[in-house]
Amino acid sequence: MCGIVGYVGLKNSIPILVEGLKRLEYRGYDSAGIATITKSGIQVYKKAGKVSELEKYIKSNEISSPLGIGHTRWATHGEPTDVNAHPHYDCTETISVIHNGIIENYQTLKKKLEESGHIFKTDTDTETIPHLIEEMLKHTNDIFTAVRLALNEVEGTYGIAVISKKEPDKIIAARKGSPIVIGIGENENFVASDPAALIQYTRQVIYLSDGEVSCITKDNVITRTIYDEEIKKHIEEITFDLEHIEKGGFDHFMLKEIHEQPETLRNAIRGRILMEEGTAKLGGLSEVTDLIMNARRFIITACGTSWHAGLVGKYMLEQYAKVPVDVEYASEFRYREPVLYQDDVVFLISQSGETADTLAALRKAKSSGATPLGIVNVVGSTIARESKAGVYIHAGPEIGVASTKAFTSQLAVLSLITLMIARKKGIMSLSEGRQVVRELYKLPDKVQSILNDTTQIKFISDIFHTHKNFLYLGRGYNFPVALEGALKLKEISYIHAEGYPAAEMKHGPIALIDNEMPVVVIATKDSTYEKILSNIQEVKARKGRIIAIVNEDDHTIEKMSEYVIRIPHTLDFLMPILSIIPLQLLAYYIAVKRGCDVDQPRNLAKSVTVE
Ligand code: G6P
Repeated sequence: MCGIVGYVGLKNSIPILVEGLKRLEYRGYDSAGIATITKSGIQVYKKAGKVSELEKYIKSNEISSPLGIGHTRWATHGEPTDVNAHPHYDCTETISVIHNGIIENYQTLKKKLEESGHIFKTDTDTETIPHLIEEMLKHTNDIFTAVRLALNEVEGTYGIAVISKKEPDKIIAARKGSPIVIGIGENENFVASDPAALIQYTRQVIYLSDGEVSCITKDNVITRTIYDEEIKKHIEEITFDLEHIEKGGFDHFMLKEIHEQPETLRNAIRGRILMEEGTAKLGGLSEVTDLIMNARRFIITACGTSWHAGLVGKYMLEQYAKVPVDVEYASEFRYREPVLYQDDVVFLISQSGETADTLAALRKAKSSGATPLGIVNVVGSTIARESKAGVYIHAGPEIGVASTKAFTSQLAVLSLITLMIARKKGIMSLSEGRQVVRELYKLPDKVQSILNDTTQIKFISDIFHTHKNFLYLGRGYNFPVALEGALKLKEISYIHAEGYPAAEMKHGPIALIDNEMPVVVIATKDSTYEKILSNIQEVKARKGRIIAIVNEDDHTIEKMSEYVIRIPHTLDFLMPILSIIPLQLLAYYIAVKRGCDVDQPRNLAKSVTVE
């Protein structure tokens, strides 16, 4: 999610690092920093805000050095402040580290390190790494070995670059779950989290695999595994261009983000599940657990896609946690005169954490004495800061205006909150809890299986892209999915689309159905399945053109529908995480076919900071 760049050679590294960071800003841009080595030791420059802020700061403190590392941050642990920006130091400021990823066992490591005298200065998980390396340097003089040994203690994901003032000609880089690429030049070498940062200098690269550590000097790269086995790496040639790299090889950010969902779902649940206990543990809510457990009711308030996630949340929480839940558009909530109680818990769901109406709703809840809790993507955003507590969804920067990966991560977090409450209240048994946990773990692979074959969705898009209206129908957990599917189509293809609870169709929208009208029905096998079969018949009787989202083993609906799109099974309350995927893709391919600007649709904005 963040960006890493490093240089070792004969030139001044600073302009190369700053330029590289600018190229990586699309990955995260809430703070940035560089570390370099001069005669007086390691020099670190870091600033909250965009890379341009860092650039200004460096210019006023001119330095030059032929080796350095730089980082642009998208915060996960600790707000985006100057202090929390990377690089981070050990106690003696001998080592400096930049890191992408999440160290899952950082609390345990930090406690151990503090007990042996290490002093931490930041709220980040990353800071455990330089201190761990410092500890290992008590047993070896070699930074390459010390990094390797330290990584053996670390659980979670990392792409890191490390420098030491005692070995000022080396950058150590390592990877597990977060990409690292090494650029090979003449009398100079580079390291980066993706080729965008180094493509203007070299196209010769080495890609590290998980569990590999490299020692990079200006004319050599040595790679070993973290278990000290020697590895011969091949140099590969980059053949693609910069724009292609930023979008990860996809034509649009939206498509890239749709395809990131297996990974973003893993990030949303990572470190938050207790397998044995069949429950969830949400660090961000630990201080408010009693308030949550004793709440008279929950209010979920949000806008747009986040509101749709909230509606799914209502269904989940009422079914399993047995708490009454109201779901409110933030723009209505802020200007109504809602009756609020001190023992109400108000969840604010927001990808950006900056949406003006959601923020106003938060302030209203707060001033009424209720407890505002954030479910937010952007760390350190206003909603995150002003909430009493909250959970980050860790979906990474979402650049496409139409929200996709944030939605599924919001649902994953809502399901974790539901699981936690239901288990604590004893409404859900241990074996049911374990079953939920098992299903949560399987979701990323199931999403991947939908993404692996999009032929049918593309085919349907080709047929329907010229239509002017669409109807989306769903019941139960799939009703909010119908709303979200319709919203996706509207947002990026400018086709009028309406989402409806399937049974409500006969109170109005049924009048629209003729032999031209595409009707997307989300009809997976859940407790409302038999009911939705009747709704499909009602559409069919009026010659509507049915596109049905069904489970893999469903052979009933295909006989009633013109087209079916098959998705895997899961528990009813987790189904929206799967059933939305084909609808995101359908909207995407239809919009592309119509020649629309998918990533920046007309009239819309990613973060709506006005009323
Ligand atoms: C805008 C975006 C939507 C988003 C909504 C709420 O309308 O285009 O994609 O769902 O704002 O944004 P938030 O950042 O609060 O989730």
